[in-house]
Amino acid sequence: MSDSLVTIFYIIAAVLFILSLGGLSNQETARRGNLFGMLGMLLALVAVTASKEVTAYAILAIALFPAVLIGATLARRVKMTEMPQLVAILHSFVGAAAVLVGLGLQLDKSSHDGLLPIEVTIREIEVFVGVCIGSITFTGSVIAFGKLQGLLSGKPLLLPARHFLNLVIVAITILLGILFAGHGDNSMLFLLGAMAITGILGVHLVMAIGGADMPVVVSMLNSYSGWAAAAAGFMLGNDLLIIVGALVGSSGLILSLIMCRGMNRSLISVILGGFGTGDSGGSTVDTPDGEVTSIEVAQTADMLNNANSVIIVPGYGMAVAQAQHTIAKITKKLRDNGKQVIFAIHPVAGRLPGHMNVLLAEANIPYDIVLELDEINHTFPATDVVMVIGANDIVNPSALDDPASPIAGMPVLEVWKAKDVVVMKRSMGTGYAGVQNPLFFNENTSMLFGDAGENVDAILADL
Ligand code: TAP
Repeated sequence: MSDSLVTIFYIIAAVLFILSLGGLSNQETARRGNLFGMLGMLLALVAVTASKEVTAYAILAIALFPAVLIGATLARRVKMTEMPQLVAILHSFVGAAAVLVGLGLQLDKSSHDGLLPIEVTIREIEVFVGVCIGSITFTGSVIAFGKLQGLLSGKPLLLPARHFLNLVIVAITILLGILFAGHGDNSMLFLLGAMAITGILGVHLVMAIGGADMPVVVSMLNSYSGWAAAAAGFMLGNDLLIIVGALVGSSGLILSLIMCRGMNRSLISVILGGFGTGDSGGSTVDTPDGEVTSIEVAQTADMLNNANSVIIVPGYGMAVAQAQHTIAKITKKLRDNGKQVIFAIHPVAGRLPGHMNVLLAEANIPYDIVLELDEINHTFPATDVVMVIGANDIVNPSALDDPASPIAGMPVLEVWKAKDVVVMKRSMGTGYAGVQNPLFFNENTSMLFGDAGENVDAILADL
């Protein structure tokens, strides 16, 4: 394929990626957004494969076919609740790719042929920055994967003087960068040194982050992976990779800022770690005083039948129980009987940004009855029944009234202000942040214990 045709393919792919992001910003257009993204990626792959630079088709086929098979199988098999881990490990691949591209270029003695001295310096900076960003992304994403998969403890590792330690690592990396650019033959050593030390920084940054802040970390690593891809694009002189990397990098950053706002955190404090940790000496393992009132399915169905207004708060447990389809049927039944039913979505409900929205859209719940935290919080006092389905941290009042709580300051859905609250979960166990929830001990809260899927099926039958 001629260079100009490849460029045309690249431009079309870049436009498709931008349209894809535009589509993904709204639930109604998200499917189309995904299609644009897939088409853009297909065009990009075809253009790269058919470009003049690619000649070793046999090697490419050996790498490509197993990769396509493994990717397709994993994507088909992964459960919605395991999506964050998959995303985290995919980010690590981008980081590893940027590191390998950098090391490959450094080993290729001919890559500086015909370059002016200033161009050589620019190339060296590209390689160095690319390897460092790639290395942080790789190790940080592997640790995030381990934490989300439960292979590593969600508890943060808080080394003494950890911010100073990070600063020292950054200073050493800059020093290695200066040495790298000035030393022809030994430069590989400095590059490998920088790769190792920035890899340690990636481990340390993510290890220092507590469970409650993991959502922001996943989106921050998404952003890093974009910058790593852009760096690889600069190294390879590939414009499309630069555009895509910049799109992923900046959209990941915007998402992180939105999530930080949702959790009332500053981005810099999340990146540096120590939040979501009980750092401030929290009293979070204390069990609140009081009795728990449990309730049966029949009583819950009665409550719903007698209510005029119902708010449903879905959380991670709804995703585990795959209860959304039955909940859609219950919603239809209640609405047909003239009741007002609204869904309340917290920005970090579940384990992925937009996790609940995806599940509710899959169950064809109308978009206009799905409201965000700030749109709905003021309506709880005028609501008869709130059904909390497999949610915990996002309805925890201690976020507002216990400054020592690891989730202190995070805005939550103020469900306790409604007349009656029914919480569906299997036990008195804590949620992702590991914090006990005083909501369960309130007088107007009733606990419907058991798997949310089985319970909503039984409620539907009763209704
Ligand atoms: P969680 O606080 O994690 O609580 C979920 C609850 O669901 C658990 O307490 C569990 O209690 C219950 N549950 C699990 N399986 C169930 C089942 N089959 N049937 C009924 N209940 C079940 O979830 P949340 O309220 O959605 O809050 C999300 C948390 O995850 C936040 O801390 C957030 O920071 C974190 N997080 C979010 C993201 C994103 S981006 N959304 C990413 C990573 C982490 P039992 O065990 O007693 O049943």
